[in-house]
Amino acid sequence: MKDLQTPIRPLGEHWGAVVLAAGKGTRMYSQRPKVLMELLGEPVLGYVLDSLEPLFGENITVVIGHEADLVRGACAGRSCRFVHQEQQLGTGHALQVAWESLAASGIRKLLVINGDTPLVTAQDVAAFVEYGEEADLAFLTVSLRDPGAFGRVVRSNGKVNAIIEAKDFDPETHGPTTGEINAGLYLMDMTRVGPLLDKLTDDNASGEYYITDLVAHGLDAGLRVEGVLAAVAGTAEDYDVLRMLGINSPVELVRAEARLAESRAQEALNTGVLVRWPESVRIGPHAVVEPGAEITGPCEIYGRSVIRSGARVESHCVIIDSTVDAGTSVHSFSHLQSASVGPGCSVGPYARLRPGAVLEEHSKVGNFVEVKKATLGPGAKASHLTYLGDAAIGAKVNIGAGTITCNYDGKNKHLTTIEEGSFIGSNTALVAPVTVGAHALVAAGSVITRDVPENALAVARCRQTVLPGRGTMPDDETS
Ligand code: UD1
Ligand code: CA
Repeated sequence: MKDLQTPIRPLGEHWGAVVLAAGKGTRMYSQRPKVLMELLGEPVLGYVLDSLEPLFGENITVVIGHEADLVRGACAGRSCRFVHQEQQLGTGHALQVAWESLAASGIRKLLVINGDTPLVTAQDVAAFVEYGEEADLAFLTVSLRDPGAFGRVVRSNGKVNAIIEAKDFDPETHGPTTGEINAGLYLMDMTRVGPLLDKLTDDNASGEYYITDLVAHGLDAGLRVEGVLAAVAGTAEDYDVLRMLGINSPVELVRAEARLAESRAQEALNTGVLVRWPESVRIGPHAVVEPGAEITGPCEIYGRSVIRSGARVESHCVIIDSTVDAGTSVHSFSHLQSASVGPGCSVGPYARLRPGAVLEEHSKVGNFVEVKKATLGPGAKASHLTYLGDAAIGAKVNIGAGTITCNYDGKNKHLTTIEEGSFIGSNTALVAPVTVGAHALVAAGSVITRDVPENALAVARCRQTVLPGRGTMPDDETS
């Protein structure tokens, strides 16, 4: 099936997709629902929805149950619908729960996909639809050397008989084990398959309602049922095979993530990004790194980040939902989240830009500087050991080492404004709300609690006292 270059385009109103995402994912040993486990910073479910949206548009229903609110939250901004499966009684039960609303919405052709298959692409889905469209019920299969815990496809003379779950498989009844397994994608003609749903039972090794039993029921009812073989491999290392497989354990998640990372880094290299040590560079599926940018691994670039042509990201950086403009260097060990860094800036090493940090052109944030919800104007500098939170800092301001904006009074956050050209001496505490006017000078070690006018000099610290007679200090007398 993989050779087919089916175009990816909307399938039309009578096509719908349902994502089974209500399960817990016991084999993950995690508190998080499996569909929210992340690969390259994006939840598993996000990948599934990304591959469905180009084909099914708004006709996507997600079956949620375990940690339903969290799962729903992870889909914020998407147009999918939700159906709640109170008790997770199996994949067949999940489909039963969703059926009524799917049928009511006028959908006649349904794609069902397990929510734990993040590597399946829109291209894969489009090709499957093209192959399986004529059948009443079709499912996607791959051939492995060892079928492991997957549902096993049983055929006689090439014709599908059933899908038998690994726990229920008995060679005496089902014949010799082959490597062909059920990938967890199904296509259904709703009118034909609908009547079969009541036939599902939980009379099996897991005590669950299996969606896979629809295959045998469909054949019994005389339906046209087809297993579409997507890929064949000797081992699960083959990417065409791996792509189709669900993620059930940390091992499987990490393996899938590694392959995804490798292909993203390679893609960047091929388009003209200078990716040094590509094996250790991780670029999320929605991050954009422009040709002419330079990245050194290990580093992670996730979310909706944009690294523009001519920007440099050194090793050990994590960049999430942030923009780094041309001519800017992000030095090693810096962490950026929801930050915007303009052109020609310098960040780090060891800088932390938190949400709302905005660095305008040619500004600089040096080592051990944390910036949150603060703008540094053009050419402004905070080179060492500083916290700038809730602040508006003008052009060419110089912030001395150890400066702190005291933005929080225990209840509320307040703004610090430092106007252009000001110089803030080292170890200054700016107790917000406070404004330092343009071209003012604040002496080192000051605690600034009141506004400083333009061009003024503010000194807010005890005057140094120097006493003579160090040798006759009381302490010394007793010793
Ligand atoms: C399933 C298939 C198996 C196939 C494999 C492919 C069944 C019975 N077996 O097994 O043939 O080889 O996928 O990866 O379907 N879910 C619900 N509600 C539930 C139970 C599960 O929404 O009550 C969701 C889960 O969140 C998950 C998906 O369905 O995203 C698949 O469930 P999972 O338990 O992972 O099925 P497998 O055992 O992997
Ligand atoms: Ca699974």
